[in-house]
Amino acid sequence: EQIEKGGFDHFMLKEIYEQPNAISDTFRGRMLPEKGIIRMAGVDNNIERISNAKRIIIVACGTSWHAGLVAEYIFEELARIPVEVEYASEFRYRNPIISEKDVVIAISQSGETADTMAAIQLAREKGAFVFGVCNVVGSSISRETHAGAYTHAGPEIGVASTKAFTTQITVLTLMALKLAKHMGTISNSDFQMHLQELERIPDKVQKALNSDEHIRKIADIYKDATNCLYLGRGFNFPVALEGALKLKEISYIHAEGYPAAEMKHGPIALIDEQMPVVVIATRKGYYEKVVSNIQEIKSRKGKIIAIVTDGDTEVRELADHVIEVPETMESMSPLLTTIPLQLLSYHIAVMLGKNVDQPRNLAKSVTVE
Ligand code: AGP
Repeated sequence: EQIEKGGFDHFMLKEIYEQPNAISDTFRGRMLPEKGIIRMAGVDNNIERISNAKRIIIVACGTSWHAGLVAEYIFEELARIPVEVEYASEFRYRNPIISEKDVVIAISQSGETADTMAAIQLAREKGAFVFGVCNVVGSSISRETHAGAYTHAGPEIGVASTKAFTTQITVLTLMALKLAKHMGTISNSDFQMHLQELERIPDKVQKALNSDEHIRKIADIYKDATNCLYLGRGFNFPVALEGALKLKEISYIHAEGYPAAEMKHGPIALIDEQMPVVVIATRKGYYEKVVSNIQEIKSRKGKIIAIVTDGDTEVRELADHVIEVPETMESMSPLLTTIPLQLLSYHIAVMLGKNVDQPRNLAKSVTVE
């Protein structure tokens, strides 16, 4: 097992550090910028069916559901197809309105999640075209879907999903870009700009990982917190949910993720000097609005840990701690902002002596209802 961990103390940490390579593996061979194309067999072979979809419905659970929420923003922005994101467990029991005009995308790292599998069966019965995004090759979901794309993240052993999340977002970004190109909802130059930026993401993830030691020090300050709030907007709202889930899963600290602007509709009541609030405040993406949310937290004496763009000065003046990530396009920022949140929960859980790779009550793949 020590050998499998490749010198890291835990699989989770190894998998966090594998993300630059995992993301490159996801796009390798698929992006051909010199030809101005993206090649994805599962999409290529069904391009008319998918691009003519009246609606895309994404079904998934847990972290994969969070990747689906990020994809909702990406698909709607780039391909202009309306997207709904559903918990597979709710979708399957709701007698949902689906037809052959819909495309359902099922996202699952393991490809074995029972609720997602049942949602796929239901969608198929109703005539929808079902596309799978899985990591495990040959898994049940990859076999039950009409077509799909693998994430190629390599085995994920830690129960808390890390590289599966960022590679799912990568694959879904490629798919959205490909559809956008086909449908003419993106200009050639914008398409090329996206491909070039995606190629730079592995290096930028590597840079984000360089804050590890700084994040460990922050973890040491907040490890005894009993609650934690995570806030983000737009593309980074799902990242806030994912950050909170990571903390809950492995450290057993109660955490909630919220869209930053929703804070004033309730969660703000929780804020006092005991409450750490993690805010994703990257320069693009409603920056000024998030800054004003930070001011509201500060005036209530909450402790602010802000994820900011390299070189940010405005938030630095307000926050108790800042963690920098490299600048990127807004749609790709979840691939970077997620990294410090993974590391923060990891270090807190280790400091609390928790079983990071196999947290209590959780299984890597949930094959029961
Ligand atoms: C993530 O950290 C969780 N352990 C869990 O939410 C997981 O993402 C969920 O069970 C879905 O699994 P899947 O991607 O294998 O379908």
